[in-house]
Amino acid sequence: MTITTGLTGHVTNTADQLDLRGNMLPVSQELTAERCDVIGEIPSSLNGMFVRNGPNPMYEPIGKYHMFDGDGMLHGVTIANGVASYRNRWIRSKGLEAEMRLGHAAYPGLSDVMNFPDESVVGDAGPVKNPANTHIVRHANKILALWEQGLPTHIAADLGTVGPWNFDGELSGAMTAHPRIDPRTGMMFFFSYNLFAPHLSYYVADAAGKLVHKVNMDLPAPVMIHDMLITDSHSVFMDSPVVFNLEGMMSGEPMVQWQPENGTRIGVIPHFGGADDIRWFDVETSHVQHFWNAWADGNRIELSGCRFNQINFGIEAEASETDAGVESAGGLPHRYWIDLQTGDTGSEDIDDMHGEFCRVNDDYAGVRTNYLYMSGFTRDAIQAADFDTIVKYDQDDDSRSSWYIGDDGHLGESAFAPDPNGTKEDDGWLINSTYNSADDTSEVIILDARDVAAGPVARVQIPQRMPFGFHANWFPTAS
Ligand SMILES: [Fe+2]
Repeated sequence: MTITTGLTGHVTNTADQLDLRGNMLPVSQELTAERCDVIGEIPSSLNGMFVRNGPNPMYEPIGKYHMFDGDGMLHGVTIANGVASYRNRWIRSKGLEAEMRLGHAAYPGLSDVMNFPDESVVGDAGPVKNPANTHIVRHANKILALWEQGLPTHIAADLGTVGPWNFDGELSGAMTAHPRIDPRTGMMFFFSYNLFAPHLSYYVADAAGKLVHKVNMDLPAPVMIHDMLITDSHSVFMDSPVVFNLEGMMSGEPMVQWQPENGTRIGVIPHFGGADDIRWFDVETSHVQHFWNAWADGNRIELSGCRFNQINFGIEAEASETDAGVESAGGLPHRYWIDLQTGDTGSEDIDDMHGEFCRVNDDYAGVRTNYLYMSGFTRDAIQAADFDTIVKYDQDDDSRSSWYIGDDGHLGESAFAPDPNGTKEDDGWLINSTYNSADDTSEVIILDARDVAAGPVARVQIPQRMPFGFHANWFPTAS
């Protein structure tokens, strides 16, 4: 039986916004389905919750809409003893609650973000909405929905919204959507980038969730930094040419610009280092939006991710459809290395398939991973977020295995669910969300990570379409 909460969305996209077409059109209901149909068999040792975050605006947007703008919606599939249940919930940000009181949108999107709504309209919800729409992580038994320009949003186990979380008052700024958790210590490493100096704030929270370290650092220019990495002893950042255009922003120019003269460098700081301890190493001019992993081998640090030679987010008000091309949609699998002793650096392509949403078995975060998982593009008409292939790289022998979903199929990000009885790095499952454009349906699929090419071992039928979104995670049930 499927139950609705009664909360409804109102987006029809009568203005034909690019980022609301097709499977970007938001769903209008919150549903709960206690038992979903399953094709195949859910592995008996797979118990926990798969959650996918993504934009799902409740109201018709004001002005140009970008998928970065939409109210966060969580789609969760809970798996217990072979049975799957589903629920989806809007993230009730203060900004969305203000709009719910009004019955219409009040916040402009990123293309006109400086046009703040008046306090008389949105009350104490603040000048900028934090839609919490990008990622979802669990640390110190707290589920946090993340958006890189605001505080984390605390989410309950039933996907209800608890509210903004500021680490007991210790975090006053923003938090990246991509923290890194050290599985050996339980510590969480994260950062925020800032338009004005200090440009980079770096934080460590201990295993209990207490903020125990904070460092402010200056960079040559205010840059957008989306992801970071850890080794077992250091945190790693990339400073790339994605530069905020502070002067131009006020006059409607693009908020971020590709400025190759900024170059690209990799910064390495001991986990508990100070601002003077970070060391920067120049690498080829490039940008990585999402990394796989980093690890140290003696003085050598290796890191990998999907590399862009240039990136364009298409945020500006006048961005055209052609701005969302291949280079916006996916990068190329790439590894970089630096030698802390000699200062030597280098990099090389891992493969020539375009892809994104780089993931590993997070139990190996910070130490060498042999297996890299990616959502890839193989179709000619490449669009942002429209993945069609689940890819696994084996770095031992530089081989690739993959599974193509079919011509009507579309994939999101895979989350790696480790097998609690496993011993090897790829003992576990990849869980991903799909959309079938032929029949307008979605599934959550489970692949055995040891044999990706075999395709799904189980396909959970979702009682409504899941619009394309951003990041997903797997939260195992405590054993
Ligand atoms: Fe991301």
